[in-house]
Amino acid sequence: MALHIGCIGCGSMGGALMGGLARQGGYHLSGYNRTPERMRPLEELGVRRLHSPSAVAEVADVLLIGVKPRQVLPLLREVRSALRRETLLVSVAAGVSRRRIVQAVDARCPVVRCMPNTPALVGMGVFALCLEDDLLSEEDREVLRQIFARLGTCVELAENEFPAFSALMGAGPAYAFSMMQGLVQAGVTLGFAHREARRMVAALFSGSAMMAEQSDEALQQLRDNVCSPGGLTIAGVNVLDRAGLTGILVDAVAAAHARAREMED
Ligand SMILES: NC(=O)c1ccc[n+]([C@@H]2O[C@H](COP(=O)([O-])OP(=O)(O)OC[C@H]3O[C@@H](n4cnc5c(N)ncnc54)[C@H](OP(=O)(O)O)[C@@H]3O)[C@@H](O)[C@H]2O)c1
Repeated sequence: MALHIGCIGCGSMGGALMGGLARQGGYHLSGYNRTPERMRPLEELGVRRLHSPSAVAEVADVLLIGVKPRQVLPLLREVRSALRRETLLVSVAAGVSRRRIVQAVDARCPVVRCMPNTPALVGMGVFALCLEDDLLSEEDREVLRQIFARLGTCVELAENEFPAFSALMGAGPAYAFSMMQGLVQAGVTLGFAHREARRMVAALFSGSAMMAEQSDEALQQLRDNVCSPGGLTIAGVNVLDRAGLTGILVDAVAAAHARAREMED
């Protein structure tokens, strides 16, 4: 029988996850959102809209919690009595520890913490999954791995590695967008229309990412391959090295990591 995946809080992230799963097919999907109209696009993809959070908790084999971090614990107390020992409860809330979630649901079911990043909104997310709960069977873990593998790239981490993941991957799109912004600005400086520069820079990042993923060569080598001796690329790359771009990125991630550790409860 097909697995039933439910989601309470179908906003940007909950909606993206459910939308991604609906497009893949193969699951029964249902959800509840405080503002019902926000679920309309999901309903059009075949997600059933239920009338309350508890109604979703009652039917779901896998229950995704997609509300804002401050709303998670009150919501879980509300639906606690509908949870069964077999319900796989998955929270995507940033900074809400497994310990607090387990407490809120009186350890009635296994609790999984998941940290997505924003490209999940376009079906290309990187997901950290913490599958440490002793109540999870190996079969449960496999079910969860399969669900998130269908939505993007999935890594399994201990919960104490989540701050590092958040600093690198959660914040990562902001680093990438900053670099893209700089290149778009450079393109406009050279006379390209803003829209054209942005389109080209987006394609540059997608293409370079694809090359990095498909090639066995070191990133340094891929970079050297573009730099002909005495050519224009090495002239540009020398400026990046003199400014210390690599060190700046390392420092940025380290600063985000320090902040992430402060924010984790
Ligand atoms: N967005 C991201 O890139 C991102 C990345 C990593 C983690 N996350 C995590 O994802 C979670 C959701 O973030 P988001 O950006 O998707 O926020 P969002 O767009 O505001 O979605 C939250 C949704 O929860 C609904 N909601 C609130 N209380 C509810 C309740 N009691 N019952 C049912 N629905 C309820 C809201 O309904 P209304 O429509 O009525 O407001 C809203 O649609 C957060 O915990 C966040 O930490 C998000």
